[in-house]
Amino acid sequence: MYKEQIDMARLPQHIAFIMDGNGRWAQARGQQRSYGHFAGADTLEATLRCATKLGIPYVTFYAFSTENWSRPQDEVNTLLDLMLKHLEEKIFMENDVKFLLVGDIENLPQNLRDASERLMEKTKNNKAITMGVAFNYSSRWELAHAAKIIAKEVKEGKMKLEDITAETIDRHLATGIMPNPDLLIRTGGEQRLSNFQMWQLAYAELYFTDTYWPDFNDECLYKAIVDYQSRQRRFGKTGEQVTENK
Ligand code: IPE
Ligand code: IPE
Ligand code: MG
Repeated sequence: MYKEQIDMARLPQHIAFIMDGNGRWAQARGQQRSYGHFAGADTLEATLRCATKLGIPYVTFYAFSTENWSRPQDEVNTLLDLMLKHLEEKIFMENDVKFLLVGDIENLPQNLRDASERLMEKTKNNKAITMGVAFNYSSRWELAHAAKIIAKEVKEGKMKLEDITAETIDRHLATGIMPNPDLLIRTGGEQRLSNFQMWQLAYAELYFTDTYWPDFNDECLYKAIVDYQSRQRRFGKTGEQVTENK
């Protein structure tokens, strides 16, 4: 239904997902929260496949925030296990997916860190789509981390204070080579960023849906893209200027 309405010439180049609602989805079915996380992992795979087929070059999935460490230990363990299980080389190579761990990789458990680094190295030349997974990520951590590295470079004389620009900060973020998201999709009904990419989302179009992440499907993605394409992105200009430039 929505797929036919998509203008393939104006696809968002980067879609970021705040995958929320796994726990409530499971609880509504009388199940443990972890059941929702397993279902959510399947949704992630399906969404990645759908985005690849459409020809979206970059996607990012917010999978675990630095704040999520304060959840009950068994839930944290489930999320760590699930992540480790999904860092399977084979699937990434078969689907030509380039993987990027976006987050505080140095403070991940060693096995997850090793697996992530190995997968990034292994998939670095893959071309179909680039997938970032924000894991042990928060925007405030990322900005403080960037500030620290930049300050160090200035202190050591590698950079001049006057040369610090927005672009300098961009280069030091965990998102590295990825362009800023054009479209942010948050499932699960909450309308907040929960410490996700505050810098990168400066001009993103925000899309919120009540659908819980495990129920999010291809049709939901098409609908969000159609909604995105109905908006006029002005980047500070007037509507008339934007129309004239077309
Ligand atoms: C999102 O689902 C997944 C993570 C935050 C890891 P939640 O687990 O937050 O699900 P709700 O919001 O409690 O329903
Ligand atoms: C945001 O979801 C983090 C992820 C999706 C990984 P949360 O469920 O942790 O967000 P809050 O706590 O409701 O803001
Ligand atoms: Mg939540």
